Amino acid sequence: MTDNEQPDIALAGVSRTYGSTRALIDADLPLHRGRVAALLGENGAGKSTAAKILCGLETPDTGQVLIDGAPVTIAGPRGAHALGIYLIPQELAFVPDLTVAENITLGWAPHRHGLTSRRSVIAAAQAQADRFGFDLSMRQKMRDLALADVQMVEILKALRIGARAIVLDEPTSSLTEDESARLFAAVRRLAADGTSVTFVSHRLDEVLDGSDQVHVFRDGRIVETVQTAETTREELLESMLGRPFQVSVGQRKAGADRAVGLGIQGWRSGTSLIEDTSLDFLAGEVTVLYGLRGSGSDLLAEGLAGARPAEHGSMSVDGTVVGRPRGPKQARRSGIAYVPPDRRRQGLMMHLSVEENLVLHVRGRTSAGMWRRPRAEARLAREAIAAYRIRVASPRQLVSELSGGNQQKVLLAGRLGLQPRVLVLQEPTRGVDIGARDEIHRILRDYAQQGATAIVSTSDFEEALQLADRMLVFRHGRVVGDLRGDAMTTALNLAKGSST
Ligand SMILES: Nc1ncnc2c1ncn2[C@@H]1O[C@H](COP(=O)(O)OP(=O)(O)OP(=O)(O)O)[C@@H](O)[C@H]1O
Ligand SMILES: [Mg+2]
Repeated sequence: MTDNEQPDIALAGVSRTYGSTRALIDADLPLHRGRVAALLGENGAGKSTAAKILCGLETPDTGQVLIDGAPVTIAGPRGAHALGIYLIPQELAFVPDLTVAENITLGWAPHRHGLTSRRSVIAAAQAQADRFGFDLSMRQKMRDLALADVQMVEILKALRIGARAIVLDEPTSSLTEDESARLFAAVRRLAADGTSVTFVSHRLDEVLDGSDQVHVFRDGRIVETVQTAETTREELLESMLGRPFQVSVGQRKAGADRAVGLGIQGWRSGTSLIEDTSLDFLAGEVTVLYGLRGSGSDLLAEGLAGARPAEHGSMSVDGTVVGRPRGPKQARRSGIAYVPPDRRRQGLMMHLSVEENLVLHVRGRTSAGMWRRPRAEARLAREAIAAYRIRVASPRQLVSELSGGNQQKVLLAGRLGLQPRVLVLQEPTRGVDIGARDEIHRILRDYAQQGATAIVSTSDFEEALQLADRMLVFRHGRVVGDLRGDAMTTALNLAKGSST
């Protein structure tokens, strides 16, 4: 493999501007058959823009897409498919009423006498899922799926096309480690078959383990292209941030003599997955609910926030008994703010501006009676944009135009802006770049230390360790570990099967 080997597909000198935003500047991106390339960079650096241009979703202002050295015009996603290029986008779209099987086999359903047999559709889709070790229920409707499962369906759709080039934009952002490992095994198989695979990720471990080559984006430019074997974690970080980077380690304090911020008694939810559970969450600290999907950690978080109301039990906030929340609004009235796991479907109003999303729930605080106070709202929004370093052209910009990570920051900033007594967050830094993630962790810990109760459900080891003062480990709906300090590290390493 040499650098002057002709790439299979390439961007050559490509630029793309949106209004005043220079999303991509003079980018060269050579992609090779049989190799796996990783795109790395901060939120808003231009990774998705490059991916979209490769796959015909956007057109370059200047520069070209080359296939085997010859310039091509890609006529939309269909044109890309015809050329054998398939994109799995960052924000997934799907037909909610179709089943998993129908979605996977969309456009290639096996026919018998011109009719599609329902059973053969399911069998074909199941075979495809089995081949990649994905555990999906074929008859479920897409609308009922967890985000991770939607992502797996999408991945299966791309894999079965047998494309010459597959681009995956943050494919693992809502997968567990186990599922990611399975995905990367599939990626390796594809590359071995001669496909060019490109993926975007904010997880350095999977970039280092899963790619042959890394393209580092910064402020719209590809600032470095390196062989993965010849670089290190530190080098990549410095190259993407433009400065050295060290993860900050928060000070953890002992849990003694803290007041109970949120308490639940006799909690039952998920038709008895969680049964007769009583827990106290202490004010002034971050409690992490750690567990895989289906373990009950998500279910508990959703119950506390009213997103999926518990069926039985009572609740208190700062010592006052409040009703068990029957919806997020009621939870909010009890002083509980909620960051849901899926920003597009639950968290943000995609048709509204950044500013409107930031002040959406704060309105009560900035308005006098019936009247809104636009100036106070604008100030709040400006402060949030600065504090979270949200990359926007203007506060009036539609939130849907932001890069994925910047959307996530808007969601978080909006909820923290409520200054709630209790914060319930699920996968709070999904899709956020490494630098911003560290900063968000710091903001959350600071917020808790001022006396609020923070409860974070996550399936991400590193996030759990960085955030937790206390960790509750879930399995089959039960708390199987209640840990602090070094015990958390030990338990997580055990769970990970690592000897360190
Ligand atoms: N349709 C659009 N309208 C306006 N601005 C856009 C549009 N699409 C992208 N941008 C801007 O272009 C820049 C690059 O966005 P892009 O989505 O490529 O970033 P990214 O590297 O994928 O970030 P992330 O890691 O957060 O997903 C961002 O500042 C974004 O706000
Ligand atoms: Mg992106």
